[in-house]
Amino acid sequence: MIQIDNLYKSFGDSAVLKGVSLEIPTGQITVILGPSGCGKSVLLKNLIGLLRPDSGHIIVDGQDLTTMEAEDINEYRRKFGMLFQNAALFDSLSVAENVAFPLREHTDKSDAEIMKIVDEKLALANLVGHNDKFPDELSGGMRKRVGLARAIALEPEIILYDEPTTGLDPLTAESINQLIVTMQKTLHVTSVIISHDIESTFKVADHVAILYEGRVLESGPPAEFRHSKHEVVQRFIQQGLGRTG
Ligand SMILES: Nc1ncnc2c1ncn2[C@@H]1O[C@H](COP(=O)(O)OP(=O)(O)O)[C@@H](O)[C@H]1O
Ligand SMILES: [Mg+2]
Repeated sequence: MIQIDNLYKSFGDSAVLKGVSLEIPTGQITVILGPSGCGKSVLLKNLIGLLRPDSGHIIVDGQDLTTMEAEDINEYRRKFGMLFQNAALFDSLSVAENVAFPLREHTDKSDAEIMKIVDEKLALANLVGHNDKFPDELSGGMRKRVGLARAIALEPEIILYDEPTTGLDPLTAESINQLIVTMQKTLHVTSVIISHDIESTFKVADHVAILYEGRVLESGPPAEFRHSKHEVVQRFIQQGLGRTG
């Protein structure tokens, strides 16, 4: 379990996280919802140690990230695979080399071993036969899938997805949703998805939380979350379902 406890983070005068507390269960898909600009990406970056909170605790596998030394944070980060919002591919590298990158950086496997793993991860992401393409030859959905293949290259325990369906057409979004669920079932990981896509959330989530005005306003299984007594949550759900059909 990942336990986020009373997390605070400000940038100058602007308080973004104002006491975020949340438990993320192991082996499930948790979706953290929230309007644009509410601090979802800031929360994810805190979770992987790319940003340090002003106060509060993040406890993963019994280790408190917020009191860790810099070199231990590098080791800690190996637990996570992250699919960034824009996929963050290296444009000058082929699909295969993008996926190989973390293996070349963090392991001393041979080229043949690396290419075997790359093929395996590309197959999981439905990208067989695309090894030699370059990112600018790919659709938005395919770029996300390459980002995901790279995120799982080092076999993380936890996969973080930052807005995996934002900006994709409905069919492509649906294929990414299916892939997220397949990854979850195949790899038995813990998945954390940051999103403002309500429709996708109810398709994939085992657990839903909403970040609002710097705190977690509501969290629970989807069926309970839908019946939240918070007016803000109801409005967010209704608007989200209305907008996407
Ligand atoms: N490195 C940073 N420095 C200053 N402000 C930041 C930084 N990162 C994020 N912010 C601010 O924090 C707020 C939340 O941003 P973000 O987490 O990206 O929102 P979202 O929920 O859309 O992912 C925004 O007002 C953003 O401008
Ligand atoms: Mg964001």
